[in-house]
Amino acid sequence: MTLQLERFAHEYYVLDSPSVPDAEYDRLFVELQALEARFPALVDSQSPTQRVGAKASQAFKSVDHPTPMLSLNNAFDTDDVNGFDRRCREALAASIPGRSEDEPLEYCAELKFDGLAVNLRYENGLLAQAATRGDGSSGEDVTANIRTVKAVPLRLLGDTWPEVFEVRGEALMYKRDFQALNDRQRATQDKVFVNPRNAAAGSLRQLDPAITAARPLRFFAYGVGLWQSSSVQQPATHAQLLGWLAQVGFPVSPLQITGYGAQALIDFYQHVGRVRASLAFEIDGVVYKVNRREWHELLGYVARAPRFAVAHKFAPEEVLTQVLAIEIQVGRTGALTPVARLNPVFVGGTTVSNATLHNEDEVRRKDVRIGDTVIVRRAGDVIPEVVQVVPERRPAVTTMFVMPDRCPVCASAVIREPGETASRCSGGLICKAQRTQAIIHFASRRALDIEGLGDKLIERLIELEWLNSPADLYRLGQSQLAELERLGEKSAANLIASINASKQRPLARFLFALGVRHVGEEVARQLAQEYGSLAALRDENWAARHAAKAAIVKENLRLRKAGQPLQVVPLEGIGPEITESLSRFFADPASRQILDDLQVQGVVPQPQTVAAVSSEVAARPLSGQVFVLTGSLPTLSRDQAAELLRAAGAGVASSVSKKTNFVVAGEAAGSKLERARELNVPVLDEAGLLKMLAELNPGAANP
Ligand code: IVH
Repeated sequence: MTLQLERFAHEYYVLDSPSVPDAEYDRLFVELQALEARFPALVDSQSPTQRVGAKASQAFKSVDHPTPMLSLNNAFDTDDVNGFDRRCREALAASIPGRSEDEPLEYCAELKFDGLAVNLRYENGLLAQAATRGDGSSGEDVTANIRTVKAVPLRLLGDTWPEVFEVRGEALMYKRDFQALNDRQRATQDKVFVNPRNAAAGSLRQLDPAITAARPLRFFAYGVGLWQSSSVQQPATHAQLLGWLAQVGFPVSPLQITGYGAQALIDFYQHVGRVRASLAFEIDGVVYKVNRREWHELLGYVARAPRFAVAHKFAPEEVLTQVLAIEIQVGRTGALTPVARLNPVFVGGTTVSNATLHNEDEVRRKDVRIGDTVIVRRAGDVIPEVVQVVPERRPAVTTMFVMPDRCPVCASAVIREPGETASRCSGGLICKAQRTQAIIHFASRRALDIEGLGDKLIERLIELEWLNSPADLYRLGQSQLAELERLGEKSAANLIASINASKQRPLARFLFALGVRHVGEEVARQLAQEYGSLAALRDENWAARHAAKAAIVKENLRLRKAGQPLQVVPLEGIGPEITESLSRFFADPASRQILDDLQVQGVVPQPQTVAAVSSEVAARPLSGQVFVLTGSLPTLSRDQAAELLRAAGAGVASSVSKKTNFVVAGEAAGSKLERARELNVPVLDEAGLLKMLAELNPGAANP
């Protein structure tokens, strides 16, 4: 049973492919515990039940490393990688007779795990001792804690290993496990960790192994230290070493290659960079090692780093910077968002100078003050955020953030409803900020789609007080617009034409354009289908509808319990939050005024059912086809090309995958084009695209 459990744990933690459900593992585990309780003499110290040992009496014991634990030199760009390759080739040519500097050298590349280095000593196939890296010559004895890490074999697989040897690797925490741990910590009001590495370090350096056992640590092996054996030879190459480590039971880098020359390494780096965000754990780069291990000693060491290896680092996802100010942004629905203005920093590949602080509670929870040094994080494409304040760097004088009780834009009262995290400006369209955002939304492509009316122009028209509500758009005159700097007769005429065209958009778009809280595109479509006209929506007694709906939902609960057939819920998918919001909107004199005003201006939304919308989309020639645009096209802008494709029914995605049907590539197309070639996705240029569109739908390809 012990062996069976060991196999299941190995499948789960090392191979990532469990053959039995977790519950089955748990059941066997309990059975084994019961057996061991009955026959204590039979308990094996390597048994899965023996992973959690006794609490250490004091701090950790110090352990000397018989072979030092080294660090790595870093490479930050292609030049650094070429330099590394050249130095290796030169040094080998100098010490191996007959070898030329120009002979390409074979490397093995793997991931650089962002955790903490651990040394594991095995004696006769059993885990004898585990230690942290410490200063490289001695570290701390964390054997009891490492025994709780299920990815670390207590007993090696197979029977061919040196009598005594050391495995070097990294202890870390998976991103999802880190998130779950922090959720638990928050729920129990315990300390939350800044990132998976800190969580892993904090978990490993616990005096009570029971705590470590409850923390989901993982381990990846990337090398060996001491190797004492009379019979087992060291693997000749690093790639073979990784293969052997996997065979005896260790997880190793799931992405690795061997290849000749610097270009192979750079290709690997770029590939890993693209998939980095989708990995289960964090990495801070990739590591290149001369594959032939015999040559490692020939190449030797400089200070505490080997010459045969280098770490090629990614742009950091977390950096330190100062909070210069905390300002308030007022959104379309009036929500006040505190935003930290930062001393600009390069993080996650771009320069960041603002980070959202979400809301008042967030600012309090993180205790962010003006003047503080903070950790800013930007991973993948996510919005930059302030992770935490660095308390040691807090200056003597800081300024606390206070949520204002008046809107900083319009001075209306700020209201925070009980149970809500957002504070809101109560000014509605009186507030210039809300008005601007509301009109930007009203005119946007997915709403009334007023071409030529950009954000900047809207801001300008609001400054000039030409726009006080969306209805004012329809009062703008061509000569008035033509007077505006940089606009001119032609664009003014075009703009007036597109404003006029927006008077007859489908009802669904019109409803979405109104920006009623909780009424997104999908809900708007459903309402349009259900009610057919704006008049019918306005006539609805929303308060009564809300109450009736709630009554049916309650009655259905009773019917379900009684096993009786349920009543049909009208407006399925439209929840109480939405009916309440609609009730408020249609009862509000200000919104009624705007609706009346729009009607007076000739804005008549067109009734259109969902069935009509979807069959219309499905009937378009490229419906179901996915395109990706990359590089700059000779005549079309990216948006124009996307618009043409969408109008033909195609989807436009941002990254190339197996589902991509075509890639349209222009000048300076980069990784997306490479990926298309890898996946054999057909590639078109602009001319090819226009030809295709013209053939499918004559007359459509005229932007
Ligand atoms: S090899 C002699 N390989 O990076 C070479 N190190 O900056 C020793 N690390 O302390 C290290 N992933 O903790 C190596 N695939 C990898 C690694 C790796 C992470 C860490 C390791 C080391 C640090 C050096």
